[in-house]
Amino acid sequence: MDVWILESAQAVAVKAADICAELIQAKPDARLGLATGATPQALYAELVRRNQLGQLSFARVETFNLDEYLGVGPNQPRSFHHAMRDSLFDHVDIDPINTHLPAGDAADPAAEAAAYDALIKARGGIDLQILGIGRNGHIGFNEPGSSLRSRTRVKTLSRATLRDNQLGKPDFEAPVMAITMGIGTILDARALLVLATGWAKAPAVAAALEGPLSARCPASAIQLHPDATVVLDPAAAADLRLTEYYELVDRARRHLASH
Ligand code: F6R
Repeated sequence: MDVWILESAQAVAVKAADICAELIQAKPDARLGLATGATPQALYAELVRRNQLGQLSFARVETFNLDEYLGVGPNQPRSFHHAMRDSLFDHVDIDPINTHLPAGDAADPAAEAAAYDALIKARGGIDLQILGIGRNGHIGFNEPGSSLRSRTRVKTLSRATLRDNQLGKPDFEAPVMAITMGIGTILDARALLVLATGWAKAPAVAAALEGPLSARCPASAIQLHPDATVVLDPAAAADLRLTEYYELVDRARRHLASH
């Protein structure tokens, strides 16, 4: 696991954009796994900025989002489809046909979830999966107790997640279920890019990176991935115990880069 503790949330976004850009430059038809929520918003703004400056093209990129609320159609303002168009897809040169999210309004949600999992495999798998972490340690909507080998399926959101999704949005009626990639599906991605910013995430980040591997903290499954990069601001990193080691690695990295 490669842990970066950077000076600010903006620096986290820039580093994450660098990692995405490096992949897309090496592989213009890269398949990116995307997340919604507050954490990746600054990353998406940075990707839009680079695209509009002509530095980065999404013309051949294909995307797969982690999740979508159950019973919510793609044009509903509270859908993740809508959120993704708003924050990224509508502002870059991506072909909408190459942007995938589970259909939350599918007549048969279990079949939709299985088909989504199969589609990811059929397209060749995800090259880089971007992840945020819930305060309760969830990734996607894999709530505590989720099987560490789960595949894309319907999950019920925990009370904690429902509360978090409602925060600051008094008019938002938070759906109670979602279709989400499973933890096994997420771990199939060739590389993971985990982002966390802010004090509220510090306990979940510490449990995910340094706690025991446990369904209690679904994000701890990233410990199983051979190519996981975690980018944090100092607040999200506040509860980590191995900080001295991460700093040592960082110094070694800079030393190598300067030679
Ligand atoms: C989003 C997702 C969630 C979020 C997590 C953190 O598609 O699957 O796991 O990444 O809830 O959300 P924020 O970034 O809003 O704190």
